[in-house]
Amino acid sequence: MTKNIINKIANNLCLSPKGILAADESTKTIKKRFDTINVESSFENRRSYRELLFTTENLNQFISGIILYDETIKQSTSDGIPFPEYLSKNGIIPGIKVDKGATPLTKDSEEKFTEGLDDLNERLNEYKTLGAEFTKWRAIINIDLEKNYPSAYCLESNAFMLARYAKTVQDNEMVPIVEPEVIMDGDHTIEDCFKVTSLTLKKTFEQLNLHQVNLSGILLKPNMVISGTNCKEQSSVEKVAKMTVQCLKDNIPEEVPGIVFLSGGQSNKNATLHLNEMNKLFKDLPWKLSFSYGRALQQPSISSWKGEENNVKNSQDALFNRSKLNSSATSGIYSPNDEQQVL
Ligand code: 13P
Repeated sequence: MTKNIINKIANNLCLSPKGILAADESTKTIKKRFDTINVESSFENRRSYRELLFTTENLNQFISGIILYDETIKQSTSDGIPFPEYLSKNGIIPGIKVDKGATPLTKDSEEKFTEGLDDLNERLNEYKTLGAEFTKWRAIINIDLEKNYPSAYCLESNAFMLARYAKTVQDNEMVPIVEPEVIMDGDHTIEDCFKVTSLTLKKTFEQLNLHQVNLSGILLKPNMVISGTNCKEQSSVEKVAKMTVQCLKDNIPEEVPGIVFLSGGQSNKNATLHLNEMNKLFKDLPWKLSFSYGRALQQPSISSWKGEENNVKNSQDALFNRSKLNSSATSGIYSPNDEQQVL
């Protein structure tokens, strides 16, 4: 019974032509985003901004679920409807980020290790009562060839945490999104990214199997295989698509219903182009390929909002348009010309 419930939620989250909006920025991260538009990161401004996103008309045509943050899941619309209730009533599944962020792996290391297992069960109970049906946990893997990063210790410990998290979430009848993010920063090549992403996914699935996680009741949220931000040679859209899909084929079991990419600092347009190319070139994949973007969906919205009531409609239009473009990319039918038409 539990298995059926979980599998149904996982399938609904990646139902074509929809993807997920990640609106789960921590208070520290949303402050950074608000700083770019000179808006104070107050409790009320954060609430207003999230209300703007969630009340975008007809967003449910393209967005299946929204990932919330601890503060946000407890906030309400200006009419007093709790956000998770508002989303469910409007055909969008509410989810919640449950990791507590990354901490140094060891005292002197620049590698990271994600925390949050200690009181996870109690928090999941609370989030479930508040209406969450799925969750997210992000592990961070850095590439630094000179320092030999990622270390085996970093990969193994993050994979263990992801799997223990996933098992605990499924025991609470919710869907875990498993997010091992190989970070784009650095001058590494796309081939380096391929190797590290392969190893990361291999270790993650070894641990998921060891923990007896039901793979048809998870979603994987990986990075795309891409050149480092400072790499002199930036790869073509086609190369990114082909190498990403090859890496997934090598490492992801067929039972996993959906792979929902993070955008990871790619431009809005590149995040859409890459997803589109994968769905255009590969029609016979065992899993759905979709998006769970934060920055690549929200950036135009936040820039046009600027914290002003008068700009709310334009900002909502920007989110609607970006969601529509990425929705087309889940079917491989996006064209860069569509950018002008919708904006
Ligand atoms: P980005 O799409 O901005 O990478 O955010 C996705 C996310 O949820 C990061 O954890």
